[in-house]
Amino acid sequence: MIRLVKPYIAYEDVKEELKEIFSSGVFTKGKYSQLLPARLAEYTGAAHAFLTTSATTALSMCLKLLEIGTGDEVIVSDFSFPASCNVVEDLGANSVLADVSLETFNMLPSELLTKITPNTKAVIFVDALGNPSGLEKIADICRERKIPLIEDAACAFGSNIGKRKVGSIADLTCFSMHPRKLLTTGEGGAITTNNEVYASKLKVKLNHGADETGDFITFGYNYRMPEIACAMACRQLESIDEVVIERREQYETYTKHLEPLGFTPQRETGEAYTNRQSVVFSIPAELDRDALIEALRNRQIETTLGTYSLSATSYYRQKYRAIQPNALWLQQHTITLPCYRGLALDEVCSAVDEAIISL
Ligand SMILES: Cc1ncc(COP(=O)(O)O)c(C=O)c1O
Repeated sequence: MIRLVKPYIAYEDVKEELKEIFSSGVFTKGKYSQLLPARLAEYTGAAHAFLTTSATTALSMCLKLLEIGTGDEVIVSDFSFPASCNVVEDLGANSVLADVSLETFNMLPSELLTKITPNTKAVIFVDALGNPSGLEKIADICRERKIPLIEDAACAFGSNIGKRKVGSIADLTCFSMHPRKLLTTGEGGAITTNNEVYASKLKVKLNHGADETGDFITFGYNYRMPEIACAMACRQLESIDEVVIERREQYETYTKHLEPLGFTPQRETGEAYTNRQSVVFSIPAELDRDALIEALRNRQIETTLGTYSLSATSYYRQKYRAIQPNALWLQQHTITLPCYRGLALDEVCSAVDEAIISL
């Protein structure tokens, strides 16, 4: 079976760090727990970086930091993984799902403008599948309206807009280190920010509410990453740009093969540069996407849908009754193809050719 993803890290890459951690007996709050946030800040160009246990806890922490709760509204991109708005619901606030572009798969500025109300307390812009296209326009609107902008960059580590890396653009940016991501520690996450007020609050909130003197000045949380995970991430940061280049080259090769067959790539606009975290294409209108996935599975190729229209999932559909048409179309007409180092890409392309003929 050709799998969808394989991690870019092997045991050999971190065996020295593992030896060091096991012999020191320091499994949390050690050298790598300090090094990793510093390196994430350096890489992204953000003034501050903090670690969390996942992108979900990172997003949740940001909303808590903004004191979002009952009756508040948070506008969220509709084409994403449900975690992007589950965190809003968890705090008793309402998710206002905004439709996305059929080209970039990201929140449309026109949609954002129609959904802002006096109750809007934050916007969560999702870099769909790693693509930050359109973020600047959304950031301009949020700045003008004085609405905090959280970027759900769970998939976008290593992406950038011109010279600015994802992580240094929005008010708060959240990353994931889940195994489908380019930087993976099994589970893990991070928040970056240039905002000094947010940073000083995060420092305390992520330390059980304790300030630098150890005084518990408020309530807080433990979302720490273990030392081993931090060491894994530090090692991968050294070659993350090469990984992004490789994935972009593989996406290019897929595009050359698939565009003539009627598939459409996820577009980058302006100076956006996506890490191609997920290799996703819109399929030709006449094809049945689920039948295509099944035909490829029969040929030993693992694929899956692009991602979800959150407003069309059972919970959000029943609660808000406001399905977003573009996101729904993308949920039904996109496919994620395998992408990893050493992939026999020509085998996948031939299997797609055969699968299409068989349908
Ligand atoms: C856009 C988006 N946001 C949030 C998440 C949640 O990430 P995590 O598994 O690190 O909590 C995911 C997971 O795939 C995601 O794709």
